[in-house]
Amino acid sequence: MAKAKVQYSCSDCGAVSIKWSGQCPDCANWNTLVEEVVAKSTDNDSNRFKQHLSKAIEVRSLDKVELQEDSRLSTGIAELDRVMGGGLVSGSVTLIGGDPGIGKSTVLIQALSSISVTHKIDSLYVSGEESIEQIGLRARRLGLELDALRVYTENNLESILQLASKDLPRVIVIDSIQTIYTELLTSAPGSVSQVRESAAQLVRFAKQTNTAVLLVGHVTKEGALAGPRVLEHMVDTVLYFEGDSGSRYRVIRAVKNRFGAVNELGVFAMTDRGLKEVSNPSAIFLSRHEQEVAGSIIMVTREGTRPMLVEVQALVDESHLPQPRRVTVGLEQNRLIMLLAILNRHAGISSFDRDIFINVVGGIRISETGADLAILLAVISSLRNKPLPTDLVVFGEVGLAGEIRPVQNGPERLNEAAKHGFKKAIVPYANKPKESIKELEIIAVTRLTELFEQGLI
Ligand code: TYD
Ligand code: MG
Repeated sequence: MAKAKVQYSCSDCGAVSIKWSGQCPDCANWNTLVEEVVAKSTDNDSNRFKQHLSKAIEVRSLDKVELQEDSRLSTGIAELDRVMGGGLVSGSVTLIGGDPGIGKSTVLIQALSSISVTHKIDSLYVSGEESIEQIGLRARRLGLELDALRVYTENNLESILQLASKDLPRVIVIDSIQTIYTELLTSAPGSVSQVRESAAQLVRFAKQTNTAVLLVGHVTKEGALAGPRVLEHMVDTVLYFEGDSGSRYRVIRAVKNRFGAVNELGVFAMTDRGLKEVSNPSAIFLSRHEQEVAGSIIMVTREGTRPMLVEVQALVDESHLPQPRRVTVGLEQNRLIMLLAILNRHAGISSFDRDIFINVVGGIRISETGADLAILLAVISSLRNKPLPTDLVVFGEVGLAGEIRPVQNGPERLNEAAKHGFKKAIVPYANKPKESIKELEIIAVTRLTELFEQGLI
C-alpha cells in the first residue's frame, strides 16, 4: 500500500506546509501546525473545474439586482433576532460558538421549532453529536412542537447535502461543524482541512439555494472557535455564547455580522425548560448590596444597541509577589495596566506593591472604553476602603493625559440610569446633556484630577 501523504496545516490561518515547524510560516503563530493526511486530487476536481469554465460568465451592475425586502425570518425568540440584526437572513450562514454545555444545541432546537411552527416552513436539524433519542428527549422536555422538527443524525457531508438538495429546507442547523466530514478529504473529522472544506461546501450550498444555515462550532480552551480562523471569514455572522456556566444567565454576542450591528447582545436565562429570553436585562448584572461596599461601582455600558447597567468590582490587596497580580474578569487586562499607570502619573496613587483584581458581575464581558472611569473609581474605592454611594452611576473613557473623554450615546445611558432610580452620575463633560434629566444629578468632569478636587472620591 502506498504511504499516505501528510501535510501540516495551521489551525489558525489554515496555511499548508509540507514540513512541520514550530512556527507557522504564514501567520507566524507558534505551535499551530497540525498533521493531516491528504487525499490526492481526483478526476472529480478537474471535472468540476472544466464544468466551471463552460458556464456563461455574467457581470451585473448593482442597480439591476432585484432586492428581496422581506428575506428575514423571525426566530420567534426576540433576543436571538436582536443579535442577528433583526432575524435570520435567507441564504446566510451563521456560526455559533461557545463552551460545552452552555446551551448552543438548546437554543438552536428551540429556534428551529419556533421558526417551523410560525412560518410553516421546512427545516432540518442535522446532528453529528447526539442520537435521535437524545434529541427527542430534549425536545420533549423543552415542550416543543415535535411534529415540526425534522432531525437527521449524520456526519457525512455528501449525504447531508444530498438530502438538503432534495428536500430544500429553508433553514438547516448543523450541530456541529467539527463532527462533519467530507469524502473529498481523508483527514479525520474536526481537522483543520475537514472543517474548512465542509464549511466551504455548506456556504456554497446556502448561497446557491438561498437556505439559511446555522453552524455550531466548538471552542478551544482559550475560548476561540476550534478549527481554522478562516472559518470566521467564510460565514456571514459569528455569534458567541458568553457567561460562566455557574451563572443562570447566558449572553449571546455578535462578533461579526454582515447583516447587523456587531457587539449586539442577546440575554437569556437557562431554566429547566430551556433558554428563556430576558427582555429587560438592564438590571440583572447588579449584585444589589444592602449596604455600600468598597470597591463596587455601577456603570452604564452600551453593548450593541442598548444601554445596560453593570456592576464593576475591584479588590486591591497587599502583594507579596515580585510582580504583583493584575487580574481582570470580563475586561481587558492591558486596559487595567494602562489605567493604573494613568492613576499613578496623574493622581499620584501608586499600586506597584498591590495585587489588583477586577470583576464584572454576572459573567458579562465589556469591550468598550466607557468602562475606564468605573474601573478607576472601583480601584480607588477599594484601595482606600471607602465605599461609593449606591445611587451613583458612571461612564467615560480616560485618556493617557488624564483627561476624561466622551463616549457614544450619553443621553441614552443617562436615561437608563434615571429609569432605574439612580440619583447621581459622574460623566465626561462632553456627555453632559443640554437639558436636565429628572431626579438625576449630573456631575460632569474633564480631568481625572477633578474627581479628587471635587471630593467625589
Ligand atoms: P446544550 O444545549 O446541550 O449545550 P451545548 O450544545 O452548548 O453543548 O446545553 C446543555 C446544558 O444546558 C446542560 O448543562 C443542561 C442545561 N439545560 C438546562 O438547564 N435546561 C434545559 O431545559 C436544557 C435542555 C438544558
Ligand atoms: Mg450541543
